[in-house]
Amino acid sequence: MKLEEVVRNRKSVRAFSPNSVPRETISRVVELARWAPSWGNTQPWEIVVADGPKAKELADAFEAEGKKGATPRPSISMPVNFSGVYKDRYMNLGKNLLAFMGITREDKEARMSHYLNMYRFFGAPAVVYLVIDGDLNEPYSCLDIGSIGTTICYAAMVHGLGTIYLAASMHFPDIVKRVLDIPETKKIVIGIAIGYPEADKLAAVFRSDRAPLDEILRFA
Ligand SMILES: Cc1cc2nc3c(=O)[nH]c(=O)nc-3n(C[C@H](O)[C@H](O)[C@H](O)COP(=O)(O)O)c2cc1C
Repeated sequence: MKLEEVVRNRKSVRAFSPNSVPRETISRVVELARWAPSWGNTQPWEIVVADGPKAKELADAFEAEGKKGATPRPSISMPVNFSGVYKDRYMNLGKNLLAFMGITREDKEARMSHYLNMYRFFGAPAVVYLVIDGDLNEPYSCLDIGSIGTTICYAAMVHGLGTIYLAASMHFPDIVKRVLDIPETKKIVIGIAIGYPEADKLAAVFRSDRAPLDEILRFA
């Protein structure tokens, strides 16, 4: 695959086939992605993959938290208040995604089902967790995590795999640490769900839009 094809065709997948992804394939994805840049080549990432029964155990536990209406308790602070254009873009994403899936604002049941499905990682057979040491400088290490995370998303496409970064997958880090045997001192930055897209499901087909180039680019 050409780089341009990879970059233009990557999108967040929200419907995965239950077919498992061979560990060998995930290892090859991470082997390629580890060439991503990091501050001072510190490579602060630790990558822990939940697959098979562990992925199911996590999905069950996250769904249970979702059903209880538990408040997220992430290891790293998450964005809370957006305003202006950022709020508009965020709201547009939700509106466009639900409309594309045929879910109306009034349909509380379908919205809840989508929300709980997110806590089941949209059916992905595996979640790649990106973890940092608790005493690392957080904003900078998170830049590095974004660097390898997005490279993982691109590298996965070479194997016909789809991905989605999922903040939802780190809403309950205590559960992730217990199930995946990750020491208490570590921080779970993000999880990326990975698997084969369920091509006939709308949630696997949806494409988000982008701000026009002249809105984000300026030559000084
Ligand atoms: C850090 C991060 C966290 C995200 N968390 C979620 C999430 O919890 N649920 C979700 O449906 N999408 C999540 N996304 C996916 C974004 O909504 C998506 O990347 C954005 O809408 C752009 O669409 P695209 O990835 O299809 O190009 C997340 C993306 C990033 C980068």
